[in-house]
Amino acid sequence: MGKTFNVAVMSGDGIGPEVVAQAVKVLKAVEKKYSVSFNFRDVLIGAIAIDQTGNPLPDETIRICKESDAVLLGAVGHPKFDNDPSAKVRPEQGLLKIRKELGLYANIRPVTTYSLLNEASPIKNHLLKDVDMVVYRELTGGIYFGEKGRKDEGKTAYDNCIYTEAEVLRISHMAFKMAQSRKKKLTMVDKANVLESSRLWREVVKKLEAQYPDVTVDYMFVDAAAMKLVTWPAYFDVILTENMFGDILTDEASVITGSIGLLPSASMGDKYALFEPIHGSYPQAAGKNIANPYGTILSAAMLCEYLGLADAAKDIRNAVNKGLEQGVVTEDINKTKNNTTTEVGDFVAANL
Ligand code: IPM
Ligand code: MG
Repeated sequence: MGKTFNVAVMSGDGIGPEVVAQAVKVLKAVEKKYSVSFNFRDVLIGAIAIDQTGNPLPDETIRICKESDAVLLGAVGHPKFDNDPSAKVRPEQGLLKIRKELGLYANIRPVTTYSLLNEASPIKNHLLKDVDMVVYRELTGGIYFGEKGRKDEGKTAYDNCIYTEAEVLRISHMAFKMAQSRKKKLTMVDKANVLESSRLWREVVKKLEAQYPDVTVDYMFVDAAAMKLVTWPAYFDVILTENMFGDILTDEASVITGSIGLLPSASMGDKYALFEPIHGSYPQAAGKNIANPYGTILSAAMLCEYLGLADAAKDIRNAVNKGLEQGVVTEDINKTKNNTTTEVGDFVAANL
């Protein structure tokens, strides 16, 4: 037996456990093929963690994640908290805290289209040609983590958007390097016509241009970028942006592919890495074996790549492509002829 990797598994809420089970199944097939082994350790996060321990991110979860070589996450969130603005503990707090605890400042979200799924896309087919971009979303700063609160006896609320030069620099370097390995084009998305924090981003990125002379940088306001994503998605290659703009733009970008269920993501820091699909917990589908597991399976491919198992990552992607080609898809992609979550996982595992 070759190397052993410790992988913390946070299935989370809603469809999380079902899609994560498929990714684990695929990683077990990787074990067989590549004489590596994964030591999976299940840990709690989100609503299920609140139900069982009162805490959306128990200390034990943090400890086990820090002892692991990589973390695999399903989804976090439950409607019983969404409709209660006065709830003091929320599942999402667990997600935000693990990002902060592990220092996962860069969320990397690749967006690729599959020509076979063009019919499922809300965008006109001719616009989908050559869409292949990757979004670098800052993940541990900005309005998500700035000071927030109420004043005037609760009648005024505020959320501060705050960034330091160092926070902008570290993810910008990553995005520039990615641009160098791709088409050497970087689009910085901000709202520098209004926000001071955006003006800092622009200043920092402008200065970095000299260090990466082979990369062409353009600067775009977020409202214009939101429009361009649906009118000319192939325009983009590497997008660099702050936390909340990245959250919104990547949901928008994901539907271009035909299903939000397809997109994986990696959250990286200097020491740890976490892999999760970009979709949410989709509670309406929980327990029905209908959720699309491809996003989580492709996240497992990113996990393999991160652990140095590039061939395994490639095999997973090829098996996913084959599944899509053969129409082995869940109902979000094909309403009339579809497979269950488990069947999709079985197909990928069997086709490695
Ligand atoms: C995401 C999600 C999270 C976010 C939520 C669940 C807190 O939407 O990962 O994109 O806003 O970051
Ligand atoms: Mg989001």
